[in-house]
Amino acid sequence: SVVVVLGGGGFMVWMFNEAKHSNLGELTFENPLAIPELLEPTTDDQGRKVFDLTFTAGEIEFIEGQRTETWGLNGPYLSPTLRATRGDEVLINVDNDVEEDTSLHWHGMHLPAAMDGGPHQMIEPGDTWSPTWTINQPAATLWFHPHPHGVTAEHVYRGAAGMFILDDPDLEDLELPDTYGVDDIPLIIQDKKFNNDGSLNFDKSIFGNVGILGDEILVNGTHGPSFEATSSLVRFRVLNASNARLYNLGFNDNRSYTLIGTDTGLLEEPIYLNRLLLSPGERAEIVVEIEPEDDLILRSFEPNINGLNFWEQRFNGGNDTFDILTIRGNEQLVDSEPLPSKLVDIDWPEETNAVHTRKFELSGTGWINNEPMDMNRIDFAATKDTTEIWEISHEGGGVYHNFHTHLIHFAILDIDGKDPPEHLRGWKDTVFIPPTSSVRIIARFEDYVDPEFPYMYHCHILMHEDRGMMGQFVVVEPGTEPPSRVPEIDDH
Ligand code: C2O
Ligand code: CU
Ligand code: CU
Repeated sequence: SVVVVLGGGGFMVWMFNEAKHSNLGELTFENPLAIPELLEPTTDDQGRKVFDLTFTAGEIEFIEGQRTETWGLNGPYLSPTLRATRGDEVLINVDNDVEEDTSLHWHGMHLPAAMDGGPHQMIEPGDTWSPTWTINQPAATLWFHPHPHGVTAEHVYRGAAGMFILDDPDLEDLELPDTYGVDDIPLIIQDKKFNNDGSLNFDKSIFGNVGILGDEILVNGTHGPSFEATSSLVRFRVLNASNARLYNLGFNDNRSYTLIGTDTGLLEEPIYLNRLLLSPGERAEIVVEIEPEDDLILRSFEPNINGLNFWEQRFNGGNDTFDILTIRGNEQLVDSEPLPSKLVDIDWPEETNAVHTRKFELSGTGWINNEPMDMNRIDFAATKDTTEIWEISHEGGGVYHNFHTHLIHFAILDIDGKDPPEHLRGWKDTVFIPPTSSVRIIARFEDYVDPEFPYMYHCHILMHEDRGMMGQFVVVEPGTEPPSRVPEIDDH
């Protein structure tokens, strides 16, 4: 259908051919996109940047006239954005002001296991947890979210999550759009299912193979969002913060855009594409060229991987193509500097240095290597100063998975024996594992030895993680015997 609207600039025409969105009738995408504010740190007497976050229960009107109970950090939904620079020492005070035990995990962060915020670092109601570490990794777009064992899906779904931007002083001269909220914009994409009274539907009896899938899309907590571009280039830091939904991102006019960064770092060179699949937990930094008075729709197109089209995640059983965000260009745009042709140098781990190849088989909806997660079991130990190859395979069978690991960022060596596509040749911490495929990744273990506190690896389809598609590893010194159980687990 074609909708004609009389707007400020005259007649504007939207084509809604094939795009479906809402079960609420026509969605007009006129709500200004919310931009989470940057949280100002204070500095303590040790020179650390101190951020204060509080888990908060609240209420939001995502949809006019409907009140939704939610969780957030320092507010009712999502969180202010954190931002720090390589070399900074940070201290983050996380207060729990909700009525349940939960945790806060720094997804993509390279840090000691005791600071990681996984299921061994629970925060009780009324308590404060104060992890501290030094930022020591490339510039990237990270995020944070709850990680309590067995209920991560529900806690994330309520909305307690935010973006964590890392800068690198060595990249100061790199000309990229970097004015937060102006030409450097977070896009936190989530799907939700609402009950008629506005409450979030998390009814496990309607879960399919991947858990909750919503039929309404929120970006930064805005339903039907519209972004007004004021410059000729806009950088979007896109985060799939959904429990299970895949987004295959493109624009309504099929224009190509530039990918400059993957999960945990910038690419060596920008690449041009017009579709990009993001599975839950993954991030992409893209730069979009805007024309004056542009009227653009960021859309998710039905994914098609290995000839499979993921019927699980279709909206209302229909075609799985739907709109996410409109982007409207101002009449006059500020001219952005052209993008550099070279971004960063990456010191890739070498396959010939690998001392181990480990296998991870994802099966059903909650197993890795034929067993579910056990909080007391350490599945393996990696040795400091070594390189490992991990081969993750997916038996297939009507369900999709991805794979995320804490601590390390990795490079993708190959997918089914073939070189990864260009857009996967950057640092990653989460990777989609196509059904029946096997993906080999490589990473170095460089520091943070601690045989007592494990790091997690898991499927980031959150229902799968909660059901046990997760395991734990520790990092040990060369020549030491790793423990096979988590010692004194009650103290953690
Ligand atoms: Cu984003 Cu172990 O998580
Ligand atoms: Cu993580
Ligand atoms: Cu999975």
